[in-house]
Formats: sequence, structure tokens, C-alpha cells
Amino acid sequence: MKKIGVALLGLGTVGGGTYRILKANHDRIMENDGVDIEVRHIIERDVKKAEALGVDPAIVGCDIDKVVQDDKVQIVAEFFGGIEPAKTFLIKCLLAGKSIVTANKELFSKHWDELEAAAKKGGAGLYFEASCVGGVPIIRTLTDSMQGNNILSLMGIVNGTTNFILSKMADEGSDYAETLKEAQNLGYAEANPSADVDGFDSTYKLSILSSLAFRTKVPVPCIYREGIGKVSKDDIAYGKRFGYTLKLLAIAKQNGDKIEARVHPAFIPNDHPLASVKGSFNAVHIVGDNVGDIMLYGRGAGDLPTGSAIVSDIVYAATKAEPKYTSFDNRNDVSTEKFSTDFECKYYIRMSVADEAGVLAKISGVFAKNNVSISTMVQDVAADGAKLIFLLHKTKESAVNASLREIESLSCVKSIDGIIRVEE
Ligand code: NDP
Ligand code: HSE
Repeated sequence: MKKIGVALLGLGTVGGGTYRILKANHDRIMENDGVDIEVRHIIERDVKKAEALGVDPAIVGCDIDKVVQDDKVQIVAEFFGGIEPAKTFLIKCLLAGKSIVTANKELFSKHWDELEAAAKKGGAGLYFEASCVGGVPIIRTLTDSMQGNNILSLMGIVNGTTNFILSKMADEGSDYAETLKEAQNLGYAEANPSADVDGFDSTYKLSILSSLAFRTKVPVPCIYREGIGKVSKDDIAYGKRFGYTLKLLAIAKQNGDKIEARVHPAFIPNDHPLASVKGSFNAVHIVGDNVGDIMLYGRGAGDLPTGSAIVSDIVYAATKAEPKYTSFDNRNDVSTEKFSTDFECKYYIRMSVADEAGVLAKISGVFAKNNVSISTMVQDVAADGAKLIFLLHKTKESAVNASLREIESLSCVKSIDGIIRVEE
């Protein structure tokens, strides 16, 4: 029986879930995959977390050199989060020939090139299934199951925390701050939840996924990012009136020789397959030129779902002899020219205006001047003025922005309260 020594870096949500799965499935993995996995080291400063999981305290410590120097450790799995010390620790392990498994999308998306260079030098493997979409096997789908395709687009819900918040706000009228707290308690949120709600986490994942899909590096700064901070209950309610559900979407498309990559809240029709993805569930819809549409769905966050992806990578690393590296130039300093920034979308716009004659004519005049076409308009009158909601036909982002700058300066317009893209 092949014996595989493993070190776990971090014993929080993901580390804890991984340890429990490895323990519970030890014999089954031996039987099915022919490897006897032994956890030989755990790097964790909070010994209480180890005690709670029944870990032998003798294997818990904070010294990475013990891991690096242990010849019986072949695989190091990291779930510290953040850049340092994770990056330094993993590079040391890779240079020593130990394969790494990581859930750390921030580190991976920003420093994949350095990790890969160290892996090549050390002859080690890099496995990162858990970095994107929790327990959903999307990385292996992109790397091992789509070779017969040119991937045309990828669109999905890739963050569990924000999907949990938006679902609860829409279905139960829950409060944003309270729901975020609940997501934190359930172990879905990042250490700093701004990573989730401001869309950073989704851009890290989209960078990894779209680089693999298009076989060209899509660096994080080349991805447009907008979080859910400005989303209001009013917009969710108006969206419902139009038959729309609000989601934080990650979208990447090949448009001729340009790539478009963006993360932002978007309305989708209620009968869109992504509209029924609720709570901490995630889903990604991929279009390949030969296979057509594929949709992957499952838990995007949490201890056991993410632990499931980590354990699958550990077994994969233990049983596949040859590590695979990217075939594309994996550098972050690629030319920004290949990324488009002036996206074409449908739009939902909500504004507060004075309830007086000529207002609609002035606003629609500005849209017309900028060649922006209105598909639907709703007016709600209240004592203090009127709310106007416009749905716009597909139009360039630059034209919408130019229109809104002008509309905002009209004396009859009090405020522009909501701007949300619509994807169909
Ligand atoms: P947690 O904060 O729950 O766990 C991190 C653990 O690592 C903590 O116990 C922390 O200890 C420990 N740790 C961090 N740095 C050190 C260090 N230098 N020395 C010793 N121990 C250290 O985070 P999660 O498990 O939620 O997330 C971990 C990683 O997995 C992140 O990269 C995250 O993005 C990713 N991920 C998380 C998912 C989830 O659902 N939670 C899903 C997919 C990926 P201390 O508390 O003392 O800082
Ligand atoms: N904070 C992340 C999320 C964890 O909510 O999706 C999973 O990557």
C-alpha cells in the first residue's frame, strides 16, 4: 500500500472540514484509491481547534521547517488564507518537492506564476480545486474534461456569502447586516468579509477560471469589479415586478480577439437557470463550441463541501504521478489591450424625480441623444415626488454613463438611486 504523508496548514473552517473528511474516509480511500493517507503535521496556533477535533497534540505546531524537512510528507494542503505567510510557506514546500493543495484563491490568483515556477523547480504539483466554487469540481472540468472545445463563455454565481445574503434579502426580506453575520457564523465568509461583499473574492475566482477556460492569463486587475454594497431592498422589489432575480455574477466571454471579464450584481429573469441557485449554493454555466452548454452546481462554501474538494485534490496528487502545469504564459504583466472594458448590457435604472410636467421628455431626450433605447418605463408617484424606473435595451456602458451624467445634472432629477445590469 502506498503511504502518503500530508501536512495541513490551518485548522479553521476548511482545515477542520478537511481533517474530518480525511479521518472518516481513511479506509475507504485506501480501498478505492490504494493510498494510505497519514496527517503528519498540522500548522495551527490555536491548539484548542486541534483538541476539539481529537487531533494528537504532538503533530500540531507553528514551525513550517518541520514540514519541509520531513521526507515522509509528500503533500501540503493550505487553508491559512491571505498572502503571507502562506506564500512563503508554500514556495518552501514546492522547492522541497512537496505538492501543494490550496483553497486560497487570493494567493493563487495573484501569485500563481511564482507558485508554478517553484513547483516546476521542485518537480512538484499544484492543486487548487477548492479555490473556486467550493465543493463543485469546476477546475478539473476545465483542465481535464473540456479539451475538445474552444470555451466561448463562462457565467456564474461563485461566492456563497453574497448569494446567501441576496437570497435571504429577496426571499425573506432579511436585513443585509444581520444576514452577513449569519454567513460569517456559518463559516462562509472570508476573514475580512469585504472580500465577499465588495466582489474581490469573485474576481479572484474569475481570474483563475477564465485563465483556464481561455488558456490565457486573465489577471485580477483586468476584471471589472462591483460588489453588493449598493444593492437596496427597493431594487430587489422592483426587480421582482419585472420578473427578475438579483445575483452577484462573475462573467467572462471571448468576443473576437478580446476578452471581457466582469463581476457585478445583475438582474436575471426568474426562469434563468442561475435564478434558482440560492443560499450558499453556487453554479457556473459554461459554453463550449462543441459540447454546447454545461452547468455545474453545488455548495460554494462551508467546511465539508470545501473539504471535499481538498480531499479530492489530495487523492489526485497522491495517485497521479506527473504534475501538470499551465500551457499558457502565466504572467500577470500581460497587455491590457486584449481586455475589453466598454461592455454591452441591458440596464435597469431607478431615479427620484420631481413630479411635474416635462420630466419624462427631458430624461428620454438625453437617452435618445446618446443613442440609448428604452424598453420599459414605470412611474410610482408619492407625496415627495416620483420614482422612475427604466429598463434599457442592450447598450454600451459608455453610452449609459454619458446619459446618466447628463440626467443627474437636470434640475428635475433629485438622485439616481439604482443602476443594475440585466443579463439574459
Ligand atoms: P479560517 O479563518 O476559518 O481558518 C484559517 C485558520 O488558519 C485559522 O485557524 C487560523 O488561525 C490559521 N492560521 C492562519 N495563519 C496562520 C499562521 N501563520 N500560523 C498558524 N495558523 C494560522 O478560514 P477558512 O478556513 O474559512 O478559509 C481558509 C482559506 O480557504 C481561505 O483562503 C479562504 O478563502 C479559503 N476558502 C474558504 C472557504 C469557506 O467556505 N470558508 C471555501 C473555499 C475556500 P487564527 O484563527 O489564529 O488566525
Ligand atoms: N467566502 C467564500 C464564499 C468562501 O463565500 O464563497 C468560498 O470560496
